[in-house]
Parts: sequence; C-alpha cells; structure tokens
Amino acid sequence: MSTLAESRAPAGRVHVTDVERTFATTDGARTVLRDLTLDVAAGEIVAVVGPSGCGKSTLLRLIGGLDAPTAGAITLDQQGVSAHDESTAIAFQEPRLLPWRTIAQNVAIGLPRGTRGRHAQARVAELLELVGLTHAADQRPREVSGGMAQRASLARALARSPRVLLLDEPFGALDALTRLQMHDLLLDIHRAEPSTIVLVTHDVEEALYLADRVLLLRNLHAAGTEPDRPRAKVVALGSSSGMGALGSARSHERTPDLAPAPRASDGSIARLIPVPGSRPRDRGARTFTDLRTSLLEGLGVHKLTIKENA
Ligand SMILES: Nc1ncnc2c1ncn2[C@@H]1O[C@H](COP(=O)(O)OP(=O)(O)O)[C@@H](O)[C@H]1O
Ligand SMILES: [Mg+2]
Repeated sequence: MSTLAESRAPAGRVHVTDVERTFATTDGARTVLRDLTLDVAAGEIVAVVGPSGCGKSTLLRLIGGLDAPTAGAITLDQQGVSAHDESTAIAFQEPRLLPWRTIAQNVAIGLPRGTRGRHAQARVAELLELVGLTHAADQRPREVSGGMAQRASLARALARSPRVLLLDEPFGALDALTRLQMHDLLLDIHRAEPSTIVLVTHDVEEALYLADRVLLLRNLHAAGTEPDRPRAKVVALGSSSGMGALGSARSHERTPDLAPAPRASDGSIARLIPVPGSRPRDRGARTFTDLRTSLLEGLGVHKLTIKENA
C-alpha cells in the first residue's frame, strides 16, 4: 500500500517581497541582500546562482524561517515562515547523517512529529525505494558512498512531505557522474512528490537542467564596488574546470570591464531567467547552451576565460 498519496501535502507558494538582510559586523552593518522580490509558484523549481558570498544561503535560510529579514516579508501559502513549520525541509551539501544510526533510522528522523509504528516503517521504506536505497537500509553512513549518503539526506528531507524543499548546493560535493545521476533522481522525486523546490547551486548547467527559472544574484559587495555606490557589479570568478566550477572560492575576483547592465534598481537580483522547454532537457540543445553562455557571462566568467586565453 502506498502512503505517498495520503501523506503528500500540496506544493506551496513562496512570496519573497522587498527583502533585505543586513548583518551587524565589527566594521558596521553589511547588507547582503537588498530589494529582493521573488514569487515561486506551487511545484516550481527555482535555481539560485551567483558569486560566492552573494547571499544564496542567506536567502535559503530566510525562506526556511531559520533567519529573519531586516526588511520585507516572506510567506509560504500566505503565512509568515517559521523554523518550526514542518511544511519546509532543507538539505545541504554535506548529508549531515547521524553516524551511529542506520540509513533507515536517519531517514526516519525526518518524519513528521508523532509518526510511529507501521505507518512510519512504511513511509521510510517508500522513501528508501524512491531514492534507490532499499538495499542499504541497515547500513551505517560510513559504510555507504557519498552519493548514497546524499540520497539518504534527500529522503530524510522528503520524509515530512514538505510543501517546500530547500536545497543548498546539495550535489556540490559529489563527483561529476554521481551528480548527473542525482539530477535525474531529483526530477524523479519531483514527479513522485511534487513540492516547490528552491535549489542553490554553483553549477550553471545544473541550474538550467533542473529549474523552471534561474535567479542570478549579484554580490552587493563586489570587488571594486564602493559600499556607497548606487550600483553593485557582479563579481567575476575564475573558472578552473570549465562550466561547472563557478562557485569555487578560488578568489581570483575581478570586475569585468563589461559587467552585465544592472537593472534599474540596485537590488540583489541581477537576472531572473525562465528556462524554456520541458524536463528532462537536452543539455546539448542550442537554447540550453545559449542560456548557459548567457548566464556565465552574467557571472563574468566567459569573458574572463576568453581574456585569459587570449
Ligand atoms: N550570521 C551572519 N552574520 C554575519 N554575516 C553573515 C552571516 N551569515 C552570512 N553572512 C555573510 O553574508 C554573506 C553571504 O553569505 P552566504 O549567504 O552564505 O553566501 P553564499 O551562500 O552566496 O556563498 C557573506 O559575506 C557572509 O559572510
Ligand atoms: Mg552558500
């Protein structure tokens, strides 16, 4: 008997309205996010990309209610978000499994409060099957591969049937082949349990393969930008291993001569790009590669690569 249908909550709508997040630091206040407005439709996948330190994780924490904006508002289905809300689940780059518990027990940790007995067992079994870990149910985290541990982490996040799934560079630590497999797994999961997904990634190709829209954030504190200047430029990151290495913190930061024109406002959003075509997408298709080039240019990478090779 499937427990999916009965335990599934409808996907949630997220509204981020005029959000600002300023942190107090030793040298004064530092605004990391500004004028950020974003509506995420129920069941939509939005990928968030941008230079290291531009506020991607901060945005995810705000949506998850783990942090509060200094200005503006964030709602999930018209309600203010809160860390105690079981409608939202978050997963990170590191699987963060409890080493002394089995894979199945780790997944069970994510179940909604009060889920016990056969119902709990059935739900865990179902999730393990969904992420292809049925055979590893009784193994400990140290006995499984990085990809398997990350699948367990995803299953744990899904256990509460979240209306919103927040993923912070979930595949960033995996090898390239495993990462490609995880992309298709995430799409399978989204079909089986269609929650709304906000995915932070440093991999432009991953963003375009998975998302309905890609949100490109700019770093309000890009090198060469005075704090009081009205417009921030996007930081350019050196890319050592081609397209996938945008977020690597190789600090080789320069402002490109021709940074993409900022919008009329000087807010955090550099661009919000709808990705055409339905999933699964053809990574070799012209529209896909054109968008990838455009996004990389938005990050200043393409231009730098050409310059460096010139
Ligand atoms: N709790 C905090 N206190 C002070 N500064 C913070 C805090 N959290 C994040 N920051 C700063 O905000 C900026 C954005 O951080 P983060 O959202 O983690 O960036 P990203 O995920 O895009 O790499 C960084 O400069 C970071 O140091
Ligand atoms: Mg981050």
